[in-house]
Amino acid sequence: MKVMVVGGGGREHAIIKKLKESKKITEIYALPGNGGISADAICVAIGAKDIEGIVKFALENKIDYAVVAPDDPLVLGCVDALNEVGIPCFGPNKAAAIIEGSKVFSKNLMKKYGIPTASYEVFTSPEKAIEFLETAPIPTVIKADGLALGKGVVIAFTKEEAIDAVKSIMEDKKFGDSGNNIVIEEFLTGPEVSVLAFTDGKVVKPMVSSMDHKRALDFDKGLNTGGMGTIAPNPYYTDGIASECMEKIFLPTINAMNSEGRTFKGCLYFGLMLTPNGPKVIEYNCRFGDPETQVVLPLLESDLFEIMQATTNETLSECEVKFASKSACCVIIASKGYPEKYENGFEIVIPNEIADSVYVAGAKLSGDALLSAGGRVLGVTAIADTLKGAIEEAYSRVKMIKFDNAFYRSDIGQRALKATEDR
Ligand code: AMP
Ligand code: GLY
Repeated sequence: MKVMVVGGGGREHAIIKKLKESKKITEIYALPGNGGISADAICVAIGAKDIEGIVKFALENKIDYAVVAPDDPLVLGCVDALNEVGIPCFGPNKAAAIIEGSKVFSKNLMKKYGIPTASYEVFTSPEKAIEFLETAPIPTVIKADGLALGKGVVIAFTKEEAIDAVKSIMEDKKFGDSGNNIVIEEFLTGPEVSVLAFTDGKVVKPMVSSMDHKRALDFDKGLNTGGMGTIAPNPYYTDGIASECMEKIFLPTINAMNSEGRTFKGCLYFGLMLTPNGPKVIEYNCRFGDPETQVVLPLLESDLFEIMQATTNETLSECEVKFASKSACCVIIASKGYPEKYENGFEIVIPNEIADSVYVAGAKLSGDALLSAGGRVLGVTAIADTLKGAIEEAYSRVKMIKFDNAFYRSDIGQRALKATEDR
């Protein structure tokens, strides 16, 4: 079968590498992919938001199945457009993707259906929001309603910071129209867990849990980024917590979406915080996480393509979703200066013996040379029997890569390791 993957980052590279293991697939296209992905798929220069171009390409090339990975095309209705011309897809339709596309929608959904989350208020004008902040407890959390590359969240530790955040989001439009409305919510504490789950709208099959490292610098200092590294499984996510999440969060969310006439099919990402009052939802994403996917999929032992098809055909209950009882660690190599200003065009040399475990997020080919082209450039993953072993091996692989503008955290997985050792 001919499969097309929409997107072009490390997550898409991890999806493509896993799909390549499926015997049913004969060809994989990536739209647009990137210079590194071209080692594993045929890259086509069509942007992930160019829905018309994507549909045209799929028809002309007789694509049998499409995987729509990033949030933007999902929220824009890429799956609906492909389904309309008869191409089955992995990913939610536009009506269901709103669970990530609008924080106001997702917060109201959780309130209506009793799904545990931080308490919150919605504001449509800066004046009302600022008035509310005069007496709101501090710290507080300000979130732009719409998509903002994972950067639309401000944790304010003073009233002034909170007011500045409201002004920059709602008046200065730092995130464009995504900030027309905002959510101001209660500040929660506790370890964070990411759980990606396959669902066909009937059953939910969670993948192995993981932990992201969102801050740019060691010890969770510095600016928020798209994610500087991940480990799986997340040691804070015990079997007891997993059952509690299934009962109080995962199934209620799927049922809530069905009740709203917005059946969700694909990968639903639960960003959870394990608070002293139990697990609560911090955010939903309508897709695989990045860089969570780069540790979760390498541990998947079942056939990813069969699972994807089962979510589309609503036969997920019959499909095996099995993970290795091992640990994985992914270290992101970014460009110096990320998430602010950085330079592109540095050569990257990846030794052949580790190429299978390197996911390319931002690079382009110039002749045979791979050149950096983005803030996050590579994800380097290792699997081992223990978390300690996975971390050590991931860092030893990082050191084997030649890339002069490299910048990475040196403590990916250390918090999780401490949690396993403290037990
Ligand atoms: P989000 O983009 O919604 O995942 O938020 C980015 C990060 O902000 C999360 O990973 C959390 O670390 C933090 N965060 C979001 N909401 C809250 C909250 N209500 N309380 C504390 N931290 C939060
Ligand atoms: N790693 C967080 C995200 O994919 O949104």
